[in-house]
Amino acid sequence: MVSKTIQTQPFTDQKPGTSGLRKKVSVFQKPHYLENFVQSIFDSLQGYQGQTLVLGGDGRYYNRQAIQTILKMAAANGFGRVLVGQGGILSTPATSAIIRKYGTFGGIILSASHNPGGPDGDFGIKYNIDNGGPAPEKVTEAMYQRSKEIDSYKILEAPDVNLDTLGKFNIGDMAVEVIDSVADYAELMQSLFDFDRIRELVTNGQFRMCIDSLHAVTGPYAHNIFEERLGAPQGTVTNGTPLEDFGGGHPDPNLVYAHDLVEILFGENAPDFGAASDGDGDRNMILGRRFFVTPSDSLAILAANAKLVPGYSSGLAGIARSMPTSQAADRVAKHLGIESYETPTGWKFFGNLLDAGRATLCGEESFGTGSNHIREKDGLWAVLFWLNILAVRQQSVEQIVTEHWQTYGRNYYSRHDYEEVDSDRANNLITSLRAIAPNLKGKRYGSYEVEYGDDFSYTDPIDGSISQKQGVRIGFTDGSRIVFRLSGTGTQGATLRLYLESYEPDPAKQNLDPQQALAELITIADEIAQIRALTGMDKPTVIT
Ligand code: G1P
Ligand code: ZN
Repeated sequence: MVSKTIQTQPFTDQKPGTSGLRKKVSVFQKPHYLENFVQSIFDSLQGYQGQTLVLGGDGRYYNRQAIQTILKMAAANGFGRVLVGQGGILSTPATSAIIRKYGTFGGIILSASHNPGGPDGDFGIKYNIDNGGPAPEKVTEAMYQRSKEIDSYKILEAPDVNLDTLGKFNIGDMAVEVIDSVADYAELMQSLFDFDRIRELVTNGQFRMCIDSLHAVTGPYAHNIFEERLGAPQGTVTNGTPLEDFGGGHPDPNLVYAHDLVEILFGENAPDFGAASDGDGDRNMILGRRFFVTPSDSLAILAANAKLVPGYSSGLAGIARSMPTSQAADRVAKHLGIESYETPTGWKFFGNLLDAGRATLCGEESFGTGSNHIREKDGLWAVLFWLNILAVRQQSVEQIVTEHWQTYGRNYYSRHDYEEVDSDRANNLITSLRAIAPNLKGKRYGSYEVEYGDDFSYTDPIDGSISQKQGVRIGFTDGSRIVFRLSGTGTQGATLRLYLESYEPDPAKQNLDPQQALAELITIADEIAQIRALTGMDKPTVIT
């Protein structure tokens, strides 16, 4: 087998976003596009010669082709060994777990997370470092810089390999191991949660649950963990076979895109518990019978009940949440006498806090929750955490959440997304907000008075790195907030995200529909940012 050096031209658009490089499949299929970016990844790393790389993806269209290419490039670039998931399948949390368990140099995950797949859908590639977490900004920036000047890449001329059978073989001098996609991850879950107790719950004949994998990567994991290891009835897991186009759906576990599950949980004779995960398995949505748990509340409730779960029974070091996530978890941290941290959007900002032992649980409002067990958010982990709490407390999801609100107060919360906005219009909106936010202090809007307005900037407490322009925040004197930011994961136009939060300590007033409770803030947000006028849209495309 010969290693070849192929001449190429740089592309100008290979800047990784919130979570890796995401583009339409057709963009990745352009000659040299994938290869350029993979070589840019390798060129910005040091010391990988002879080392081990983990490789897998969420099974979306182009996953298999990309894996073949990356294997040949890894071999030509001098990696010693690649651990690749069977069939090319590895969820994002499983990849993180495998990097950590085997102490590998890093890993490549092929996914565009919750974005739709298929030939007309999206594809993506992200690199994780040796702690199992997403490459930090200085690494992704180096990849981008490299991609702008790259003029050649290395690839081995070799036949495609069989990804479907477990086993070991060589490509050139590099060893390849096709590994079980599920086993290491499932064992890690078993080490954190009380499987005996959860098994009692899910097999008692009373408790019914429904786990929807949305035809995406968690299918094999969920079948193995819930049905095989925990003994839940066959059929508990639905849409459990990963499909290249996710069955035509949008593998995003929220009230809009996981509508089949929502209909079941809000329908007649609804089960006790429902959950869904996204394309690559790092997100989760938790539902009770006719009850939706907001991700922000979920983080707070997991933290408040962590003592009930074996992996966390010795207490939490701290709780970290992304800036737009509601402040519900901060109240739990205060109650527990532990630190809380507010970071920019994106899981990569939690890595340093977790590595330094400063935070144990982390969460984002965007259906992401996780802990120090890996360095990614983890969808099925969150589901198991909830099941462990339910098994111990023997209460319904709704009872657990409402009791939580009674104790800590309720943070009404909602996110409004305006998708596919013209990029110039969206940038104008944010630029003008940046300019006016600092001058709003003391201004009154209806019953609210502005306490502060700023553009969120974060100084990492561990390495001192500074991340600016992370979203415009407008805080009110009663603790309510409005946050605006542009998505960093989209592939078409811009997505404006509006995050709304208000605090209600009075249990008698905690039963409103969030859109109703937040109605005045929604109007104020439009008044301040001129959303309708500047986007040309009269309402959001997605409300969660
Ligand atoms: C979105 C979410 C963010 C999450 C990211 C990757 O990013 O808002 O919390 O970390 O996806 O799953 P955004 O599109 O807002 O940049
Ligand atoms: Zn994801």
